[in-house]
Order: sequence, then structure tokens, then C-alpha cells
Amino acid sequence: MLTPQLVVTHAGGEYPVHVEPGLLEALPQLVAHHLGSRPTTLIADSTVARLYLDWLRGGPSPWRPRESTCSDQPPGGWPDPLTFPAGEASKSRETWGMLTDQLLDHGLGREGGLVAMGGGVTGDLAGFVAATYLRGIPLVQVPTTLLAMLDSSVGGKVGVDTVHGKNLVGAFHPRWRS
Ligand SMILES: NC(=O)c1ccc[n+]([C@@H]2O[C@H](COP(=O)([O-])OP(=O)(O)OC[C@H]3O[C@@H](n4cnc5c(N)ncnc54)[C@H](O)[C@@H]3O)[C@@H](O)[C@H]2O)c1
Repeated sequence: MLTPQLVVTHAGGEYPVHVEPGLLEALPQLVAHHLGSRPTTLIADSTVARLYLDWLRGGPSPWRPRESTCSDQPPGGWPDPLTFPAGEASKSRETWGMLTDQLLDHGLGREGGLVAMGGGVTGDLAGFVAATYLRGIPLVQVPTTLLAMLDSSVGGKVGVDTVHGKNLVGAFHPRWRS
């Protein structure tokens, strides 16, 4: 289960891709396998949060933000999953700013990591947060729509829309570890 079915190589390194039925049940172990003891925050839109977060918290392998072994652990502990309203309209610099500020409020340090759980909007938006937060922290994409599974979660393209068009501000962030 923890052996990636695919390894994507790119100019800056490589990252694993897991494709397997039932992986959601193993999400905490999978994230721990790849991000280790990093304090890890999950970002999901409102629909995915409603569908999965209670289940993840109370499931057979409960999602619990892990305590950090790092010296910059914030006194308030690690944030609960962060959510934003579902839909393309949230793929914006405004939502990026809100999520970034919430991570800063919680004092997530460079040793932190992010999990983007959802469709392409979540992957692009949370991925852009990961690409820019403290100049970049590791990211695990957990795609929950067909489009995100087949396309947007692989390739490292992340970003947000502007009034001038879609995906006009972004980055390449195929990064799952330091
Ligand atoms: N980065 C890339 O390379 C890349 C490639 C293609 C598309 N994209 C982007 O992807 C976005 C579109 O992605 P999308 O179609 O996944 O849209 P989306 O993320 O908005 O998801 C569509 C809807 O499905 C809901 N949803 C997600 N998972 C669900 C589940 N398991 N069950 C029920 N509902 C669920 C979401 O809450 C949302 O309301 C666009 O912003 C597009 O620009 C990016």
C-alpha cells in the first residue's frame, strides 16, 4: 500500500503517485509515511469537508495533526483542517490570502506540511498556498474528483484565477518533501 505505483521525475527531483482502491482509509498513514513527523494541516473545500472530515477524524485511522519534534512548534498546537467555500470562485488571491493568514496565525513553521484534499480547485489553491508559504513547504495532493485524479493533481501546476483570467498567478510546486 505504501509503495507508489508511479514515480514522476522532473527537473527538480521526483515524487510518488499512489493509485489504489481504499487509499482514503489509509490517508493518515500515507501522509505520515511521506511527511514524517511534520506538523501537517489539511485543506479541503466545504463539500469535501462535509463528506469526509468527520469520517477521517473518527475513522479507523483517525486524522490527528501530529505533534512536531521541531523546535518551532507553536504553543497553540497545530491547526484543525482549514476549509473554504466550494467552487471555482474560491480559487482566488483572496482565498489564498485567507488560508495563508490562518496558517500564519497558527504559527505553522517551515517544518510544516500541507495536504490538499479535493478537486482541482483545492489542489490548485492549496498547492499555491504550499508553494508560497514561507517560500514553500511540502505538499501532498489527495484528489477526490476524476479531473483531479487524472489531471490536476499530477504535474505540479498550482495557482489561482484573477479577474483577467484563469490560472494567471501560480507556480510549479511538485514538492512533497524538503
Ligand atoms: N493544475 C493543473 O494542472 C490543472 C489541470 C486541469 C484542471 N485544473 C483546474 O481544476 C479545476 C477544476 O477541478 P474540478 O473539476 O475537480 O473542480 P472542483 O475542485 O471545483 O470540484 C468540483 C465539485 O466537486 C466537489 N467534490 C470534490 N470531490 C468530491 C467527491 N468525492 N464527491 C462529491 N463531490 C466532490 C467539489 O466540492 C466541487 O463542488 C479548475 O480550476 C481547473 O483550472 C488544474
